[in-house]
Amino acid sequence: MQPDAGAQASTSSTHTRLSKGRTNAKVLAYLWAHRQKPLRRPQTPHAIRARRFAIKNGAAASTGYIGLRDHGVADNEPTSLHRLDAFIGDHKSYSNFRIIKYLGPATRPIIDDDNRVVGVFAGHEDHPKFKEQVLNPAIIAMEDALASCSISEERRDHRRGNFASFSTGQSYGGGQVRPGTLINGAINTAILLSLLSNSAFTRLAGFATGVFANWSPHLYEYYRINMMAFYRRNPTLKRPFINSIWSACTFNLGPQTCALGHRDFANLAFGWCAITALGNFDYTKGGHLILWDCRLIIEFPPGCTILIPSAAIFHSNIPIAEGERRYSFTQYTAGGIFRWVQHGFQTNKNYQRSLSKAGKRAAFKADAKRWEDGVNLYTYKDEVQID
Ligand SMILES: [Fe+2]
Repeated sequence: MQPDAGAQASTSSTHTRLSKGRTNAKVLAYLWAHRQKPLRRPQTPHAIRARRFAIKNGAAASTGYIGLRDHGVADNEPTSLHRLDAFIGDHKSYSNFRIIKYLGPATRPIIDDDNRVVGVFAGHEDHPKFKEQVLNPAIIAMEDALASCSISEERRDHRRGNFASFSTGQSYGGGQVRPGTLINGAINTAILLSLLSNSAFTRLAGFATGVFANWSPHLYEYYRINMMAFYRRNPTLKRPFINSIWSACTFNLGPQTCALGHRDFANLAFGWCAITALGNFDYTKGGHLILWDCRLIIEFPPGCTILIPSAAIFHSNIPIAEGERRYSFTQYTAGGIFRWVQHGFQTNKNYQRSLSKAGKRAAFKADAKRWEDGVNLYTYKDEVQID
């Protein structure tokens, strides 16, 4: 499918309302009021059910735009890699986790206790030459990038694990006075440009965006409105992929990309990110995505994509075997970019200064409700006709 890239010009009334300064709460209310009719699909997918998990019970930082830092969120959250036998067999350390077997490339929603679609195992493009045209070229490109990149120690050993990683696109947060494009050195910029112009990654980016739009259309619309406003206001900023809804992406070059438990707290608190696994490894033995809050361990073969609210759900990978290689490609948008747009393209400090007393009270209320309003944009099981 050809997804709406979000950066394209549009005359939608929703955008017009936003650009006239409507508040975030009003935009959310507008989206809620215009929820589309139930989606119709020819086949009933096998849903993946989370265990004892409801996204509404999650939390965000005080403004509701970004997630909570994972350190100190919960004392029992693990900080090391866990092999599969920590969850199955006689000597398991963790109970009540469910292993989700790979059933093929078809898309499968992840459903919480309230029947909300909280994520999607997207699978991959249903194309007979997917392996030749997308998977293999993407793996080769990652291997080439790893061989030629210049990566500092801090980019090889970081809070998400011990693997080489570099990012591109637009970010905002951590003291930046305005959103900007992530900076990489000359060598890495050239490598990143070659990855971004590689048709394999363009297809992966477009596929993830299409799945997002299809399975969470209201949240997708929230992204589309805000991303369109952002790039219109900042025409010199270039999104990584013209056919992707997200403003940034990361290439995790491994060579053994297996993430420690973490939340990507700088992303939009209730937003979705896309993770694509690449490499050569036995996906029945390693590379699984563990969604700790959902008590799910999902087989994650090379070439497949999974969409999750990565700022909200604590996640990690099962390690792969020695000699195997695993890479990943992720797409996401910083929560700070949404805040920048909603605050009229200014810092939170300037925004707060511009408000009257009543305006401050209203902003405080909106902040407190943003998480709830955000997860209310998620689709429900009955809307997507899942058994
Ligand atoms: Fe992550």
